[in-house]
Amino acid sequence: MHPYRATQISEHVWWVGAVDWNMRDFHGYSTNRGTTYNAYLVMGEKITLIDTVKAPFCGELLGRVASVVDPAEISYIVSNHAEMDHSGSLATVIDAVKPEKVFASQLGAKALVDHFRLPMPITPVKDGETLDLGNLKLAFAETRMVHWPDSMVSWLPGEDVLFSQDGFGMHLATSERFADQIDMSVVEFEGARYFANILLPFAPLVGKVIDRLPTLGIAPKIIAPDHGPIWRRDLGTLLGWYTAWTRQQKRRKALVVYDTMWHSTSLMAHAVADGLDAGGVSVKLMSLKANHRSDIVHELLDAGALLVGSPTLNNNIYPSLADTLTYIKGLKPQNLLGAAFGSYGWSGEAVEQVKDFLEAMNVELVHEGLRQRFVPDAKCLGECAALGRTTAEKLIARVG
Ligand code: FEO
Repeated sequence: MHPYRATQISEHVWWVGAVDWNMRDFHGYSTNRGTTYNAYLVMGEKITLIDTVKAPFCGELLGRVASVVDPAEISYIVSNHAEMDHSGSLATVIDAVKPEKVFASQLGAKALVDHFRLPMPITPVKDGETLDLGNLKLAFAETRMVHWPDSMVSWLPGEDVLFSQDGFGMHLATSERFADQIDMSVVEFEGARYFANILLPFAPLVGKVIDRLPTLGIAPKIIAPDHGPIWRRDLGTLLGWYTAWTRQQKRRKALVVYDTMWHSTSLMAHAVADGLDAGGVSVKLMSLKANHRSDIVHELLDAGALLVGSPTLNNNIYPSLADTLTYIKGLKPQNLLGAAFGSYGWSGEAVEQVKDFLEAMNVELVHEGLRQRFVPDAKCLGECAALGRTTAEKLIARVG
């Protein structure tokens, strides 16, 4: 067996997860730096494994466990979250370890049964329940819809470790295990990208979970998520980022997102961007020929305006825009101003279709939609620039 090494993160806790250097897509989210599937071994008198890993990485998990203790010594397994990147190897681990019990939240127990033909029953735990490990205790707190109905976190008092599951995670494969060993700008970038692409629909609930932790006596010194680095320092920085992200705090920043067939919608997009710039707003001009949908959502996290340009193709919105707007709509961004624009040849339905998307996202429209037949002339480009300036004025009035 490959000599995998575990990493000790507190007196009784070891990281025993897996590093997936090659993962590049997570449900449509482009994960350019790979990821980790974190699992943790709590070396109490009842040795407990918290979460497992994606199925192909089971050998890596068991190898890391074996670097600390014989896997057959594990008494308990806790599944904080049933999604398969954390539970996919559960059945194999149960076979290898033969634990006394496997614990999950009430909804987690059902979800695990619905996913897998497990060789033993799952013991449901309630919100606030504790598990006696002999010399240590684990406490559980439900975090429903952060980000699945089954989700919960586990808390190890005394060593003050919060096993936060997907919360505070990021898709970032590294050989370093701790956030303070990594360039903080990379950590902030990937943390924001993860929040925008995974947690954004549940942002208000994430905020409530964070506010609730102190009322449960949870004041972590170590935050151990299920993806990416572990936090043992700078927790205030991490929580500060989460405060801004959960509130979807916006700044003087606008996105102009577009695609183009014969460069006419591109000309309009550039003119809109010039107007925004002249109006004092930071602009990201994002062609879908150069940007992935998850890049757009990442940039949207702190942008206060979204202007979308689409050509009309066969009476419809351009396919790349339909893809990206469907993805954005599902992530439920809030607090946005916006407008639609685009060039067309015959009928020009795309601008209305983009407007429909924006309205479905509760975007406050600053214009009824700017359409241009074929190539934009100076008048049209002037109107596009005016749209940018109007949007900038409204955005500055909103965010200061
Ligand atoms: Fe990392 Fe929701 O799974």
